[in-house]
Amino acid sequence: MVASVTDHDKQPISETRADTPTLDKSGSRVREMFRQIAPRYDAMNHLLSLSIDRYWRWRTVRQLRIKEDLPVLDTCTGTGDLAIAIAKKSPISVSVIGSDFCHAMLEIARRKRSPKTSSESIEFIEADSQALPFPENTFQCVTVAFGLRNVTDTDQGLREMTRVSVPGGQVVVLEFSQPRMIGLKQLYGFYFRNVLPRIGQWFARNDKSAYTYLPESVGQFPDGQALADRMIAAGLRDVQFTPLTFGVATIYQGTKPTDGEA
Ligand SMILES: C[S@@+](CC[C@H](N)C(=O)[O-])C[C@H]1O[C@@H](n2cnc3c(N)ncnc32)[C@H](O)[C@@H]1O
Repeated sequence: MVASVTDHDKQPISETRADTPTLDKSGSRVREMFRQIAPRYDAMNHLLSLSIDRYWRWRTVRQLRIKEDLPVLDTCTGTGDLAIAIAKKSPISVSVIGSDFCHAMLEIARRKRSPKTSSESIEFIEADSQALPFPENTFQCVTVAFGLRNVTDTDQGLREMTRVSVPGGQVVVLEFSQPRMIGLKQLYGFYFRNVLPRIGQWFARNDKSAYTYLPESVGQFPDGQALADRMIAAGLRDVQFTPLTFGVATIYQGTKPTDGEA
Protein backbone atom coordinates (compact mmCIF):
# COMPACT_ATOMS: atom_id res chain seq x y z
CA MET A 1 0.00 0.00 0.00
CA VAL A 2 1.37 3.38 -0.88
CA ALA A 3 -0.11 6.06 1.29
CA SER A 4 -0.39 9.73 0.84
CA VAL A 5 -1.43 11.31 4.09
CA THR A 6 -1.23 15.05 4.34
CA ASP A 7 0.69 16.65 7.15
CA HIS A 8 -2.30 18.49 8.59
CA ASP A 9 -3.84 15.12 9.56
CA LYS A 10 -1.00 14.64 11.96
CA GLN A 11 -1.12 14.99 15.73
CA PRO A 12 2.20 14.89 17.55
CA ILE A 13 2.80 12.32 20.30
CA SER A 14 3.97 15.07 22.61
CA GLU A 15 1.03 17.22 23.75
CA THR A 16 1.73 19.93 21.21
CA ARG A 17 4.81 20.58 19.16
CA ALA A 18 4.83 24.23 20.15
CA ASP A 19 5.06 23.29 23.84
CA THR A 20 7.96 20.94 23.26
CA PRO A 21 11.45 22.38 23.61
CA THR A 22 13.76 21.47 20.76
CA LEU A 23 15.47 18.19 21.54
CA ASP A 24 19.25 18.09 21.98
CA LYS A 25 20.33 15.91 19.05
CA SER A 26 23.96 16.95 19.06
CA GLY A 27 26.23 14.17 17.80
CA SER A 28 28.04 13.85 21.13
CA ARG A 29 24.79 13.50 23.10
CA VAL A 30 23.31 10.94 20.70
CA ARG A 31 26.52 8.90 20.52
CA GLU A 32 26.87 8.85 24.30
CA MET A 33 23.24 7.81 24.76
CA PHE A 34 23.67 4.85 22.40
CA ARG A 35 27.01 3.96 24.00
CA GLN A 36 25.24 3.64 27.34
CA ILE A 37 22.30 1.58 26.11
CA ALA A 38 24.28 -0.56 23.59
CA PRO A 39 24.55 -3.73 25.75
CA ARG A 40 20.77 -3.84 26.21
CA TYR A 41 19.67 -2.22 22.95
CA ASP A 42 18.51 -5.37 21.15
CA ALA A 43 16.63 -6.79 24.13
CA MET A 44 14.92 -3.45 24.78
CA ASN A 45 14.03 -3.04 21.14
CA HIS A 46 12.30 -6.41 20.94
CA LEU A 47 10.57 -5.95 24.30
CA LEU A 48 9.29 -2.41 23.70
CA SER A 49 8.08 -3.18 20.18
CA LEU A 50 6.78 -6.65 21.15
CA SER A 51 9.26 -7.94 18.52
CA ILE A 52 7.38 -6.22 15.71
CA ASP A 53 10.65 -4.45 14.83
CA ARG A 54 11.84 -7.75 13.25
CA TYR A 55 8.81 -7.75 10.94
CA TRP A 56 9.40 -4.09 10.01
CA ARG A 57 13.03 -4.82 9.02
CA TRP A 58 11.89 -7.90 7.07
CA ARG A 59 9.41 -5.72 5.13
CA THR A 60 12.20 -3.24 4.46
CA VAL A 61 14.51 -5.93 3.05
CA ARG A 62 11.66 -7.20 0.86
CA GLN A 63 11.35 -3.72 -0.66
CA LEU A 64 14.96 -3.74 -1.90
CA ARG A 65 15.71 -4.69 -5.51
CA ILE A 66 19.17 -6.13 -4.95
CA LYS A 67 21.14 -7.10 -8.06
CA GLU A 68 24.52 -8.80 -8.46
CA ASP A 69 27.86 -7.10 -7.82
CA LEU A 70 27.16 -3.58 -6.53
CA PRO A 71 27.45 -2.99 -2.75
CA VAL A 72 24.67 -1.99 -0.33
CA LEU A 73 25.06 0.47 2.56
CA ASP A 74 23.03 0.46 5.80
CA THR A 75 23.65 3.75 7.61
CA CYS A 76 23.07 4.24 11.37
CA THR A 77 23.28 0.45 11.43
CA GLY A 78 23.58 0.25 15.23
CA THR A 79 23.78 -3.39 16.27
CA GLY A 80 23.50 -4.36 12.60
CA ASP A 81 20.14 -6.15 12.37
CA LEU A 82 19.09 -4.60 9.05
CA ALA A 83 22.57 -4.96 7.50
CA ILE A 84 22.68 -8.63 8.51
CA ALA A 85 19.16 -9.25 7.18
CA ILE A 86 20.15 -7.61 3.86
CA ALA A 87 23.35 -9.69 3.62
CA LYS A 88 21.38 -12.90 4.17
CA LYS A 89 19.07 -12.05 1.24
CA SER A 90 21.79 -10.83 -1.13
CA PRO A 91 23.75 -12.69 -3.79
CA ILE A 92 27.28 -13.56 -2.65
CA SER A 93 28.73 -10.98 -5.07
CA VAL A 94 27.04 -8.16 -3.11
CA SER A 95 29.01 -6.76 -0.21
CA VAL A 96 27.01 -5.09 2.56
CA ILE A 97 28.47 -2.29 4.67
CA GLY A 98 26.90 -1.16 7.96
CA SER A 99 28.04 2.26 9.17
CA ASP A 100 27.44 4.00 12.49
CA PHE A 101 29.26 6.58 14.62
CA CYS A 102 28.83 4.67 17.89
CA HIS A 103 31.70 2.25 18.48
CA ALA A 104 29.86 0.30 21.21
CA MET A 105 26.87 -0.43 18.94
CA LEU A 106 29.19 -1.60 16.13
CA GLU A 107 31.08 -3.92 18.48
CA ILE A 108 27.81 -5.77 19.11
CA ALA A 109 27.01 -5.81 15.38
CA ARG A 110 30.40 -7.43 14.65
CA ARG A 111 29.79 -10.14 17.26
CA LYS A 112 26.37 -10.94 15.74
CA ARG A 113 27.69 -11.78 12.28
CA SER A 114 26.90 -15.42 11.62
CA PRO A 115 29.16 -17.70 9.54
CA LYS A 116 26.59 -17.41 6.74
CA THR A 117 27.07 -13.65 6.63
CA SER A 118 30.85 -13.82 6.98
CA SER A 119 33.33 -10.99 6.64
CA GLU A 120 33.47 -11.35 2.83
CA SER A 121 29.90 -10.11 2.47
CA ILE A 122 29.40 -7.78 5.46
CA GLU A 123 31.58 -5.18 7.11
CA PHE A 124 30.89 -2.65 9.87
CA ILE A 125 32.64 0.71 9.81
CA GLU A 126 32.59 3.78 12.04
CA ALA A 127 31.26 6.81 10.18
CA ASP A 128 29.06 9.86 10.68
CA SER A 129 26.01 9.69 8.39
CA GLN A 130 26.37 13.41 7.72
CA ALA A 131 29.79 12.92 6.10
CA LEU A 132 29.94 9.40 4.70
CA PRO A 133 33.47 8.28 3.76
CA PHE A 134 32.48 6.92 0.35
CA PRO A 135 32.71 8.34 -3.17
CA GLU A 136 29.50 9.38 -4.86
CA ASN A 137 27.62 6.81 -6.99
CA THR A 138 28.84 3.75 -5.05
CA PHE A 139 25.88 1.77 -3.61
CA GLN A 140 22.91 0.17 -5.36
CA CYS A 141 20.78 0.59 -2.19
CA VAL A 142 21.31 2.87 0.81
CA THR A 143 19.15 2.19 3.86
CA VAL A 144 18.54 3.57 7.34
CA ALA A 145 16.33 2.00 10.03
CA PHE A 146 15.26 4.07 13.04
CA GLY A 147 18.40 6.14 12.62
CA LEU A 148 17.57 9.20 10.51
CA ARG A 149 15.50 10.67 13.36
CA ASN A 150 18.65 10.73 15.49
CA VAL A 151 20.91 12.42 12.95
CA THR A 152 21.49 16.04 13.94
CA ASP A 153 20.85 17.42 10.44
CA THR A 154 18.17 15.26 8.79
CA ASP A 155 18.56 16.93 5.40
CA GLN A 156 22.33 16.48 5.36
CA GLY A 157 21.82 12.79 6.28
CA LEU A 158 19.42 12.38 3.35
CA ARG A 159 21.72 14.26 0.96
CA GLU A 160 24.61 11.98 1.92
CA MET A 161 22.51 8.84 1.38
CA THR A 162 21.56 10.20 -2.04
CA ARG A 163 25.13 11.21 -2.95
CA VAL A 164 26.61 7.75 -2.33
CA SER A 165 23.78 5.95 -4.15
CA VAL A 166 24.33 5.04 -7.80
CA PRO A 167 22.06 6.81 -10.31
CA GLY A 168 18.90 4.69 -10.42
CA GLY A 169 19.73 3.32 -6.95
CA GLN A 170 17.26 3.02 -4.06
CA VAL A 171 17.33 5.10 -0.88
CA VAL A 172 15.13 3.50 1.79
CA VAL A 173 14.19 4.86 5.21
CA LEU A 174 12.40 2.86 7.94
CA GLU A 175 11.27 5.16 10.74
CA PHE A 176 8.68 5.48 13.48
CA SER A 177 5.59 7.46 12.54
CA GLN A 178 2.37 8.41 14.25
CA PRO A 179 -0.85 6.43 13.72
CA ARG A 180 -3.83 8.51 12.56
CA MET A 181 -6.61 6.08 13.43
CA ILE A 182 -8.87 7.50 16.15
CA GLY A 183 -8.50 5.49 19.34
CA LEU A 184 -5.24 3.89 18.28
CA LYS A 185 -3.65 7.32 18.04
CA GLN A 186 -4.59 8.07 21.67
CA LEU A 187 -3.61 4.61 22.90
CA TYR A 188 -0.27 4.81 21.15
CA GLY A 189 0.34 8.33 22.49
CA PHE A 190 -0.35 7.10 26.04
CA TYR A 191 1.95 4.07 25.61
CA PHE A 192 4.71 6.21 24.12
CA ARG A 193 4.49 9.00 26.71
CA ASN A 194 3.79 7.01 29.87
CA VAL A 195 4.51 3.30 29.57
CA LEU A 196 7.48 3.06 27.22
CA PRO A 197 9.76 5.55 29.05
CA ARG A 198 9.17 3.73 32.39
CA ILE A 199 9.97 0.29 31.00
CA GLY A 200 12.91 1.75 29.11
CA GLN A 201 14.32 3.50 32.17
CA TRP A 202 13.98 0.39 34.29
CA PHE A 203 15.72 -1.67 31.63
CA ALA A 204 18.42 0.83 30.67
CA ARG A 205 19.13 1.68 34.33
CA ASN A 206 22.15 3.90 33.74
CA ASP A 207 20.53 6.33 31.33
CA LYS A 208 17.22 7.74 32.44
CA SER A 209 16.95 10.09 29.47
CA ALA A 210 17.26 7.47 26.71
CA TYR A 211 13.60 6.49 26.66
CA THR A 212 12.13 9.90 27.21
CA TYR A 213 14.30 10.87 24.24
CA LEU A 214 12.50 8.22 22.11
CA PRO A 215 8.95 9.65 22.31
CA GLU A 216 10.27 13.21 22.10
CA SER A 217 12.35 12.47 19.02
CA VAL A 218 9.45 10.70 17.30
CA GLY A 219 7.04 13.51 18.23
CA GLN A 220 9.32 16.14 16.72
CA PHE A 221 10.30 14.22 13.58
CA PRO A 222 8.44 14.66 10.25
CA ASP A 223 6.51 11.66 8.99
CA GLY A 224 4.35 10.74 6.01
CA GLN A 225 4.34 13.31 3.21
CA ALA A 226 6.45 15.71 5.28
CA LEU A 227 9.40 13.28 5.31
CA ALA A 228 8.76 12.29 1.69
CA ASP A 229 9.09 16.00 0.78
CA ARG A 230 12.46 16.14 2.57
CA MET A 231 13.61 13.14 0.50
CA ILE A 232 12.54 14.89 -2.69
CA ALA A 233 14.41 18.03 -1.57
CA ALA A 234 17.50 15.84 -1.04
CA GLY A 235 17.41 14.97 -4.75
CA LEU A 236 15.34 11.77 -4.89
CA ARG A 237 12.49 11.07 -7.28
CA ASP A 238 9.51 8.65 -7.23
CA VAL A 239 9.35 8.93 -3.45
CA GLN A 240 6.68 6.69 -1.95
CA PHE A 241 5.82 5.69 1.56
CA THR A 242 4.09 2.69 3.08
CA PRO A 243 2.74 2.77 6.66
CA LEU A 244 3.22 -0.45 8.64
CA THR A 245 1.27 -1.76 11.67
CA PHE A 246 -1.46 0.93 11.55
CA GLY A 247 1.13 3.63 10.90
CA VAL A 248 3.35 3.02 13.94
CA ALA A 249 6.28 2.75 11.52
CA THR A 250 6.63 3.73 7.86
CA ILE A 251 8.92 2.65 5.02
CA TYR A 252 9.92 5.45 2.64
CA GLN A 253 11.72 4.85 -0.59
CA GLY A 254 13.05 7.02 -3.38
CA THR A 255 15.27 6.65 -6.43
CA LYS A 256 18.33 8.68 -7.33
CA PRO A 257 17.78 10.14 -10.80
CA THR A 258 19.99 8.97 -13.65
CA ASP A 259 22.00 11.63 -15.50
CA GLY A 260 19.33 12.06 -18.18
CA GLU A 261 16.63 12.67 -15.55
CA ALA A 262 18.56 15.02 -13.25
C1 LIG B 1 17.81 3.65 17.19
S1 LIG B 1 19.39 3.10 16.65
C2 LIG B 1 18.97 2.17 15.21
C3 LIG B 1 19.91 1.04 14.97
C4 LIG B 1 19.53 0.07 13.86
N1 LIG B 1 19.50 0.69 12.56
C5 LIG B 1 18.24 -0.63 14.14
O1 LIG B 1 17.40 -0.75 13.24
O2 LIG B 1 18.05 -1.11 15.26
C6 LIG B 1 20.05 4.59 15.94
C7 LIG B 1 21.52 4.48 15.56
O3 LIG B 1 21.86 5.66 14.82
C8 LIG B 1 23.20 5.99 15.12
N2 LIG B 1 23.42 7.40 14.75
C9 LIG B 1 22.74 8.49 15.16
N3 LIG B 1 23.24 9.59 14.58
C10 LIG B 1 24.25 9.18 13.76
C11 LIG B 1 25.13 9.84 12.88
N4 LIG B 1 25.10 11.18 12.71
N5 LIG B 1 26.03 9.12 12.21
C12 LIG B 1 26.09 7.77 12.35
N6 LIG B 1 25.30 7.08 13.18
C13 LIG B 1 24.36 7.78 13.87
C14 LIG B 1 23.32 5.71 16.62
O4 LIG B 1 24.65 5.57 17.03
C15 LIG B 1 22.49 4.43 16.74
O5 LIG B 1 23.31 3.29 16.64
